[in-house]
Amino acid sequence: MKTVPFTFDVSIADAILSEYDNHIERRLSAMKGQFLDAGAFQALLAQDDALLYEVYEIKRPEIAGELLNGLSIVHPGKVGDEYYMTKGHFHTVLETAEVYYCLKGEGVMVMETPEGEWSVEPLRPNAVLYVPPRWAHRSVNTSPFEDLVTFFVYPGNAGHDYGTIETQGFRKLVVEREGAPAIVDNPRWMSPEQRA
Ligand code: F6R
Ligand code: ZN
Repeated sequence: MKTVPFTFDVSIADAILSEYDNHIERRLSAMKGQFLDAGAFQALLAQDDALLYEVYEIKRPEIAGELLNGLSIVHPGKVGDEYYMTKGHFHTVLETAEVYYCLKGEGVMVMETPEGEWSVEPLRPNAVLYVPPRWAHRSVNTSPFEDLVTFFVYPGNAGHDYGTIETQGFRKLVVEREGAPAIVDNPRWMSPEQRA
């Protein structure tokens, strides 16, 4: 049995957005402090509060035994050299996992544990990504022109802890270098020892 993130391929048909109860829109202004290049962030925001990503959810009780699921759509774009991405979070109930299935686009999932172990897994059509319990996760769209569309499912009682990531970011960032995605260290990130 694997204990780290892994991917494998399956195929399903496209989802129908009208089936969903909730539609969440996350704009640039909601991502303050997350992108490394604060100057590029401010310059872009002055022009337009761009739509970075959207989530479509099936409404279900947020209790153990339920499975919350929906679609995440990250639009293409960059802030400076850094690709558009989701805020990212730990689950409040840390010992809860999540499965993502990529329907469309190209990108990566950036993940890390509270101890600072990290992993970056590819997201491409038909990839199934298993996010084990305890791993924070953020999806990043590395395509220059296409949406990154993923289906997700996770336990109803998981909850979302955004605060930890808002404070320290992820250990790794995904930026464009010579026309291709590259994983670089986040200078803002602090190890558990530095945080103590
Ligand atoms: C739920 C989950 C996804 C994300 C979605 C948006 O646990 O991981 O549904 O919520 O991809 O990302 P965040 O929530 O980080 O803004
Ligand atoms: Zn999650």
